[in-house]
Amino acid sequence: MTPSAPTVEHNAARHRYEIHVDGERAGLTAYLDCGDQRVFHHTEVDDAYAGQGLAARLVQGALTDVRASGKRVVPVCPYVAKFLERHEEFADLADPVTPDVLEWLESRLG
Ligand SMILES: CC(C)(COP(=O)(O)OP(=O)(O)OC[C@H]1O[C@@H](n2cnc3c(N)ncnc32)[C@H](O)[C@@H]1OP(=O)(O)O)[C@@H](O)C(=O)NCCC(=O)NCCS
Repeated sequence: MTPSAPTVEHNAARHRYEIHVDGERAGLTAYLDCGDQRVFHHTEVDDAYAGQGLAARLVQGALTDVRASGKRVVPVCPYVAKFLERHEEFADLADPVTPDVLEWLESRLG
């Protein structure tokens, strides 16, 4: 059987985007919304799927959805920050990581 292409889904109830491969969840990127800013704070891909570019596909799908929703992106997650540095097509969506955002995030994540 030919493997199906990975799909990115928005799991709004759990504040995250997930990437699925052949029906299995392979990774996620998690966020919290602060007004019109979507603050991405953590990305992970399961070890079994590492190094295949899945995190990049996941973040690309997530940022495309953020653009469609008219929100901004705050890349607290180092992986998302690195992705934004390498993909200028998303640069217009990015807001800086400020001490205020970090304090807000810490208070929300506990
Ligand atoms: C980081 C992670 C999500 C990458 O998943 P992946 O699907 O293997 O990633 P991709 O194949 O799309 O990209 C690999 C790139 O991620 C980079 N990377 C790995 N860990 C990173 C990190 N902590 N911060 C930024 N970039 C990272 C690698 O250096 C590699 O860069 P390259 O393209 O220059 O070689 C995965 O290794 C992971 O879950 N790590 C543990 C959790 C973590 O550290 N998350 C990031 C901070 S929240």
